[in-house]
This record gives sequence, C-alpha cells and structure tokens, in this order.
Amino acid sequence: MLAISAFLLALCSGVLSLDKLNMCMDAKHHKVDPGPEGKLYLQCAPWRENACCTANTSTEAHDDNSYLYNFNWNHCGAMSDKCKRHFIQDTCFYECSPHLGPWIQKVDQSWRKERILDVPLCQEDCVSWWEDCKDQATCKTDWHKGWDWSSGTNQCPAGSKCKTWAEIYPTAQSMCEKIWSNSYKYTTYTKTSGRCMQMWFTGPNPNKKVAEYYLNAQPHNSFSPTMLLVIPFTFIMMMH
Ligand SMILES: *[C@@H]1O[C@H](CO)[C@@H](O)[C@H](O)[C@H]1NC(C)=O
Repeated sequence: MLAISAFLLALCSGVLSLDKLNMCMDAKHHKVDPGPEGKLYLQCAPWRENACCTANTSTEAHDDNSYLYNFNWNHCGAMSDKCKRHFIQDTCFYECSPHLGPWIQKVDQSWRKERILDVPLCQEDCVSWWEDCKDQATCKTDWHKGWDWSSGTNQCPAGSKCKTWAEIYPTAQSMCEKIWSNSYKYTTYTKTSGRCMQMWFTGPNPNKKVAEYYLNAQPHNSFSPTMLLVIPFTFIMMMH
C-alpha cells in the first residue's frame, strides 16, 4: 500500500512538473512532444539532443519567405546577413526550444493555439540582435500583425513608410519586446546568471535550468494540483 502510494505520488508530481520543463507548444509547426533530432540544420543544431522542431523546420528557418510563415524579412530592402542571422536564431529558438513551458499561453489565433509571452531574454542576446540590425529599415513595430498579405507574403501596409530601425526601435528593449508582441521580455540578466533564456548557446541546453527556476518561483505553484494529492497521501502514509 505504502509502495503504491509513493509510486502514484512520484508519478503525479513528476508528470505535473516535468511537463512544463519539457514540452512543445501547440502551434503551427511544433512537434507534439520534444525528442532528439540528429539532423537539425546549422543555427538550429544546438537543439539536436532535444527539440520541438523537425529537421525540415530547422532547414526552412534559414530560408527567406520559407514555407513556415512565408515571412519576408526584406520588406524594406534586403536585410543584411549580419542582422538576419538573429532572426534565424529567433526562429530556431521559437520552433525548437522544449523549455518554454512557463511562458506558454493559450491564444485564439487561426494559425496556432498557443504562444509564448514575456520570455526573459538574456541581455547579450537582445542587445547583439539590436546592434546588428540597427542600421536596417522596417515599416512596422509589431511584426505579428497589420501586414498586407495580399501578395502571399507580408508587405508594408498602405500608408506606412520604411523608416530606420532606430526610429521604429529606439532601444534594444523596445525591439525585443515589441517586435513579436511581447513574446520576449528584456532583462539585464546576463548569460551566466541562470535567470534568463539564451537564444544563442553551444553545448548542453542551458535553458532547462532557467525554466525550472521560473517555474518554482511562481507563487501559485506552492499550492498546485500536486498538493491536493500530496496531502491525503501523506496522511495515509502516516496512518500506517
Ligand atoms: C519541408 O516540408 C514542406 C512540406 O512538406 C516541403 O514543401 C519543403 O520542401 C520541405 N523542405 C525541406 C527543406 O525539406
């Protein structure tokens, strides 16, 4: 009896907490569950050991107007390679990361059921993205909505003008937070802090520990569904 209770307890708490630390969001191209993907392409390769993206998605992430979203990076003239590599990395991070659980939210959108909100990005990753793009041009602040899609790919909407990056995004913070409608949150945490998510990394994925930290830091977690099981089981065990 004791063994069974202990087993059930371990199973329930394991499933409830592990899920959020190793899961894929319900979006357009994500796998149902994370797992090894030995053939992930170039910039997406760091996620090979455990990924929510397929090899096909990782290859497409490197292409202009790819079949993923038909998204046109060059809507105000050709985007430089120096800048574009950050958008490729952002795509790899979004499509491949299995550790975004704490920031996944349900959404009512035609193209996905879940999104990420306020993922705390490491300062270096946000600042280098902005630094490498700041001499580019764009016509919109929020790249998630408001485009003219009539041609099949996104174009600047009527009445908008191509402006310098600095006019649209005066700071690295404004770019990282506004470009994907608050998917990311700017932080002053650095990569060694363990308190921010890294878009760029090599070696074992450092973001699982970060997700774990934020998951445990959430106050509502102190009384999770797990606790509803823990209390009666503890009681039963004490009775023995
Ligand atoms: C990925 O899959 C799509 C849809 O099946 C296909 O059109 C595309 O050519 C594939 N891309 C690569 C790089 O294999």
